[in-house]
Amino acid sequence: MMSTSVRFARRLALVALTSLATFTAPLALAQGYPTKAITLVVPFAAGGPTDIVARTLAGVMTKSLGQTVVVENRAGAGGTLAAGHVMRAAPDGYTYLIHHNGMATAPALYRKLPYNPQTDFEHVSQVIDVPMTLLGRKDLPANNFPELLAYMKAQGDKINLAHAGLGAVSHLCGMVLRQAVGVDMTTVPYQGTGPAFQALLGGQVDILCDQTTQTTPHIKAGTVKFFGVTTASRIKVLPDAPTLAEQGLKGFEVVVWHGIYAPKNTPKDATEKFAAALRAALKDPTVVQRMTELGAEFVPDAKLTPEGLRSWLKQETERWGPVIKSAGVYAD
Ligand code: MLT
Repeated sequence: MMSTSVRFARRLALVALTSLATFTAPLALAQGYPTKAITLVVPFAAGGPTDIVARTLAGVMTKSLGQTVVVENRAGAGGTLAAGHVMRAAPDGYTYLIHHNGMATAPALYRKLPYNPQTDFEHVSQVIDVPMTLLGRKDLPANNFPELLAYMKAQGDKINLAHAGLGAVSHLCGMVLRQAVGVDMTTVPYQGTGPAFQALLGGQVDILCDQTTQTTPHIKAGTVKFFGVTTASRIKVLPDAPTLAEQGLKGFEVVVWHGIYAPKNTPKDATEKFAAALRAALKDPTVVQRMTELGAEFVPDAKLTPEGLRSWLKQETERWGPVIKSAGVYAD
């Protein structure tokens, strides 16, 4: 027969093991996940390109998951506020982040970044790619890229470039442009390119690099000046538009990619179910039509996996880190 002290020691060991497990293992998932609304955090203002992708997918995912996917905009600090918020959220499968290249550039841009994008999250899946376009206000006295270059050289830092903060792709594109052209510009930050684009339409800023998901209808309607696309080759949705690379900026290439992240230790059952709904949404005919019309490019299935995101994030972090360091751009 077991003595009281042996029984006590065994119970103590069990309690110790159980509490250790709660610190190291993901929480168990409630039956029937999801049983309530899921929040998808967008790190930029409503109405902008990231928000357009998130809301297009969330509507379809709501139907397949049987619970509302609520899009929450938490703009600020080039997307890093939202990423920090999701990193600290409960790892229960009810909070996700959709973010872009900013997850790869922030470590080089922010000296005090409160998270490590590669180790402090569950990497759920890549989402979709989006080309960028270089635009000017309608009354800018330049009608094509060579004229824009001449105007920029003449104006120097009197040129205002709108962007969505350090970590935003509009900022990254502007930084690469500044390096390629060798002209200093005045940068004007907004909470997202939704408001930055409104400032361009209103003539309050001169130029903006922004994603086709927001800019395509405006380019087609001629409400802005359009100087080229940032991809390595021409894009289907704007077939006549030359790339910046073919107009003299050799090797210029900025393409926006997106990933879905969850707080570290979110149960795998939850992230897998969310990812399955995402993959199905990306094949939904209404999503395919809308995203295609807006110039977005669907990525191969291999990228719609945790490893597909993890390895791409690592690769992009290694690509942009040295570029940003050599540009000497950072936030304290
Ligand atoms: C946005 O959604 O506002 C953009 O993705 C911001 C950016 O330029 O990165």
